[in-house]
Amino acid sequence: EKGTYPHFMLKEIDEQPLVLRRIIQEYQDKNGNLKLDKNVRAAMKTCDRIYIIAAGTSYHAGLVGKQFVENMAGIPTEVHVASEFSYNMPLLSDKPLFVFISQSGETADSRSVLVKIKEMGHPALTITNVAGSTLSREADYTMHLHAGPEIAVASTKAYTAQVAVLAILAVDSAQAKGLNLDFDPMQELSITANAMEVLTDQKKTIEELVRDNLGTTRNAFFIGRSTDYFVCLEGALKLKEISYIQAEGFAGGELKHGTIALIEEGTPVIALATQEAVNYAIRSNVHEVVARGANDMIFSMKGLEQDTDAFVLPQVHELLTPLVSVVPMQLLAYYAALHRDCDVDKPRNLAKSVTVE
Ligand code: F6R
Repeated sequence: EKGTYPHFMLKEIDEQPLVLRRIIQEYQDKNGNLKLDKNVRAAMKTCDRIYIIAAGTSYHAGLVGKQFVENMAGIPTEVHVASEFSYNMPLLSDKPLFVFISQSGETADSRSVLVKIKEMGHPALTITNVAGSTLSREADYTMHLHAGPEIAVASTKAYTAQVAVLAILAVDSAQAKGLNLDFDPMQELSITANAMEVLTDQKKTIEELVRDNLGTTRNAFFIGRSTDYFVCLEGALKLKEISYIQAEGFAGGELKHGTIALIEEGTPVIALATQEAVNYAIRSNVHEVVARGANDMIFSMKGLEQDTDAFVLPQVHELLTPLVSVVPMQLLAYYAALHRDCDVDKPRNLAKSVTVE
């Protein structure tokens, strides 16, 4: 039930801090130690490489997850679009572990990869929001997202739940290997939940940005580097699927290799700047597009902000920025769809779970 909310999507965006807190609780015992299926722990310890398989928004969460697993647990990780994997299978390592990320647990493209790798005898972990779903039943292990039912076709709280669960998986593997993290991960996740809550209270600002910048535009670009680039892919997907604005996410450095030709007077360019290491570089990319007429909107992290930025995000740990930077991206898409009288919860041509290949 959507209660007082006009749309499920808005309700689900607002639920994100709560879902994150629930995940923190579900994956911790009463002494504050991480609580994970011991078989998952063993599988993470034995594998020499992780292959993340997913589609759409879940694929975008996987890209962030790769960074967690590699940075925290030191396990080489690849992320693959499910529908491509079968046709373009990479050389596998000696001891691969497959990790399927799927809100519904029913995505046919992912399932066909699961069937294939099980025939090959490889272990599989499914991270899903639906207990008892096909991908959960057919994999060796499952981790739950605890996001609650997601009704809107555009995925929001499942994405942030996936990112959070992947962080917990990476932290747990790091701890199991005796690697010391220089921060308290569960505390950082709690801080992040609070930051998400601050953001869901800033809807007016985002609504105004949409009215002023995305009202009648035909297209929009999202640029970022590193982690921000992954969130740009997600921001662009959200915007296109519900508002039908042609949107693309680009790595800031790739613009000059072709895409910059599309920039015209007034083209909206949304830039993310949440990482100190890329702050300077992404801002110089913004200068390049503004010099060609683009209408820029910079979303920066507190501490990295400049006076002309459109929006300043509350500060969280550098690895966890996608959990906060994605929220205004979701809201941009929501208000753009609303502004254009689109069917927010049920965009044309799309189904909630894609059970055909
Ligand atoms: C976008 C969206 C889709 C799904 C994709 C995978 O908002 O919802 O891109 O993420 O179809 O679905 P699941 O996660 O159910 O496997």
